[in-house]
Amino acid sequence: MPTLSLQIPRADIVSQLYPLLANQTCNLVELTWEQHLFHEQRSWSAVSLLQSVNLDALSPIDKANIWNAGRAELTTKPGADRLAHLADAECRRWQDTNPALASVLQACSTWSRYWNEEESFHETTLNHLAHQLGFEPVSDESFLEFRKIFPNDDMLRTLVLLAISEITAMVNYSTCAQLAQDPGLRKLFKQIASDEAQHLSYFISFAKALVDSGEYSPKGAFAITHFFLREDGELQGSQRQKKEQRNTHVNWWDALEYDWDQVPNNLARKQGIIFSVLRQITGIAVHSVNEVEQTWMDLVGC
Ligand SMILES: [Fe+2]
Ligand SMILES: [Fe+2]
Repeated sequence: MPTLSLQIPRADIVSQLYPLLANQTCNLVELTWEQHLFHEQRSWSAVSLLQSVNLDALSPIDKANIWNAGRAELTTKPGADRLAHLADAECRRWQDTNPALASVLQACSTWSRYWNEEESFHETTLNHLAHQLGFEPVSDESFLEFRKIFPNDDMLRTLVLLAISEITAMVNYSTCAQLAQDPGLRKLFKQIASDEAQHLSYFISFAKALVDSGEYSPKGAFAITHFFLREDGELQGSQRQKKEQRNTHVNWWDALEYDWDQVPNNLARKQGIIFSVLRQITGIAVHSVNEVEQTWMDLVGC
């Protein structure tokens, strides 16, 4: 029986991606195999999970959660499409001066295909479930709107934004699972929450590798985090008093229409995970929104 996995613990691949490539401990073919293996081992059947949901046992809150999440997942394809292109362009930029960093970025661009496919399971499963429940389907006009691709940004900022987006999704799906009384729906939400947790670990890995390369300042990670955590910031999503009006793309966290009296948004839990992720990526420990802001200002030299 051939050995299926690299002889490097997965935790080390996540946390030591840059040194592993810089020291030539592993190469892109081996890393891509690891990505494939992990994707295949965690794959699940949308048809089987849908068949285990008892439609008659779902509460109005369950139904609202399914509808909201299905629409939100429509924006993940443009996110993954953009990541594939942005990471490849960034890879070319470093190819001559920092080949290990170029490999990190190519690993990121390559992984985006697995991310895209896993998110497609979330989108199609939840939207089909909404259809089975008799919701009016998302119009083609809304579908096109939710598929608009984000404008490009700095690579580290992009990866940290995606990490925060996965944290929000993971916590939201966990809450949906806790609220669900039907075992089939609970299992579906738990499965999706578990996928989002794995996506988060990839974004931590790639973002940390960028910082470890010495070519990206941690200030980019703190800048985007501050953008989310500041008063009335993006983390508040659709509950914000003032949301930006834009024609370029849809941020799914702004487009939720939860009945917020009944669905907790777990802001403190999301913030706690964001502090931990920021430390893993940059090595800098922060414990409050004020510390994030202060550190960001220190890093930009204010
Ligand atoms: Fe998702
Ligand atoms: Fe995800």
